[in-house]
Amino acid sequence: MIATALLLTLAVGALSHLVYLCYFHPLAQYPGPWLARFTNFWRLLAFRSGRQHLTELALHRRYGHVVRVGPNWLSFETLADFEAIYGFNRDIEKDEFYNFGRSNKRQGFSLFTAKTDAQHRDRRKKVVTPALTLAKVGGYVEVVRKNVGVLLARLDDAVVVVAATQRDGKEGKVNVARILHRFTIDTSLEVIYGPHVCPQPVTDIPATAGFPEAIKLAGKSAWTASLLPLPAWFMSLRIVMALTGRLDNSNNKHATPVNLAAVAATSAKLIFNPQREELLSQHQQNSILKHWVALPSDDSRKMPPSELWSEAFNLVLAGTGSSAAALTALLHRLGLGAGKPWQTKIRAEIAAQQSNDIPSSSTFPVLFAVIKETLRLDAPFPTAFPRTIRAGAENALPGLPTALPVGTRVSASTFVLGRSHRLWGADADEWKPERWLDGDHHEDLDERFVAFSKGARQCVGRDLAILMTASAAIAVLKQWELSSVGALEGNSSFLEMSYDSCWLRFEETNNE
Ligand code: HEM
Repeated sequence: MIATALLLTLAVGALSHLVYLCYFHPLAQYPGPWLARFTNFWRLLAFRSGRQHLTELALHRRYGHVVRVGPNWLSFETLADFEAIYGFNRDIEKDEFYNFGRSNKRQGFSLFTAKTDAQHRDRRKKVVTPALTLAKVGGYVEVVRKNVGVLLARLDDAVVVVAATQRDGKEGKVNVARILHRFTIDTSLEVIYGPHVCPQPVTDIPATAGFPEAIKLAGKSAWTASLLPLPAWFMSLRIVMALTGRLDNSNNKHATPVNLAAVAATSAKLIFNPQREELLSQHQQNSILKHWVALPSDDSRKMPPSELWSEAFNLVLAGTGSSAAALTALLHRLGLGAGKPWQTKIRAEIAAQQSNDIPSSSTFPVLFAVIKETLRLDAPFPTAFPRTIRAGAENALPGLPTALPVGTRVSASTFVLGRSHRLWGADADEWKPERWLDGDHHEDLDERFVAFSKGARQCVGRDLAILMTASAAIAVLKQWELSSVGALEGNSSFLEMSYDSCWLRFEETNNE
């Protein structure tokens, strides 16, 4: 009898909650998928399918600029909304969603996962000014060039192997997706840690050869856990892991670390060594870590080892896949019919260079237009990074009928904004680099360009990402005429865009 009464009470309670979510919740007035009123589970499924970016685009095209994508979560589409969410409002924060990057003792939090405005401002000052300003990034150019050389050699090998296996005289196609990912991993890690941790390209070392796959999995797992924290917590219990055969040997001190764990361990050995400054200064070569460590001890930007370790690893996680996605999409677009004339124009720009300066938008306006157009259409981070409304920000989003309750999650996707007809016009879905070369509207377009986000938390690796992408593209186009074969495969968004296959044909150009 008591049990029945209890069950009945629970059922009535659950039903009233569902009715509340559906009709009386403050977000009930906003349109969206039916299931989103009750659970984030549909969002998890969309994310795991790799198509969340496409789902969000379709939702905005169907429902307009505000969509309820979860019981307590609104997605936005206009530039004003994007600027309100990601701009400089200190009462819109990164909440528990980012706990995946805050949990472990050694790590603390990082620039990316910092929660409050004060934490973030302090960390940003320490990370960026000593090592990631445009001038400092210029100091990494030799490391980038060296790794571009490795990239060309790997492509050359792949082209030769494919040509040797061709019997019908046709030039073979090469899948460049993994080769390009290896390039951004090897380059970024050497720029971040220097030769002490990266005496050779990281993906050439047997223990870290699986780095590309491991880092993709890390991002996917972290986001999955954040989308459904309770089940993720349950699945991470040791007993559940043992029962489901997922208990690994990460706690086994005798196991040799591989991939991400190997880099984490090798970098920790250097960073937690009291002699780190002397060790790092043994090499002439610039690195981000070397710049951070070299700050005088009374400099307020000087980080203790735990912060150094966390911030360096954070750059690895944030920059390698996104830059690979950018470069892959760029070469694919250039190899399509619409891209071929742009290859010719970029080759003309290369030929016109008098010096070996760092590529910039003034020396390579066409290349930079092509890069921006690709980043606009094929956002490397197509995931909407959620923020939470805190007290003081209830009215921060313009034009809403009522104030948002404190605790509401809000987001806007760079992919959706990059393809918004409202922002880019009727030809938003077309790849047209010429739009960036129209002198009159150029600044206006820059305002709408959100691939690296905007405001206080915009990307700190933008200049490095552009340097890697532009340098690799220049070197590849100088040597080969590219033709894309088929569509990009994989094409899944798991936090960053992940391409499994990008097939290209390579034909030698006549450039010396
Ligand atoms: C084409 C490549 C890249 C794209 C499109 C990109 C895009 C973005 C975006 C959209 C954000 C904002 C995330 C948010 O709102 O939470 C971001 C943040 C960030 N990016 Fe990038 N990124 C790229 C490359 C890089 C590289 C190479 C690095 C490292 C060297 C890097 C490091 C970071 C960090 C540390 C943050 C957090 C900044 C903060 O919260 O203050 N990114 N990036």
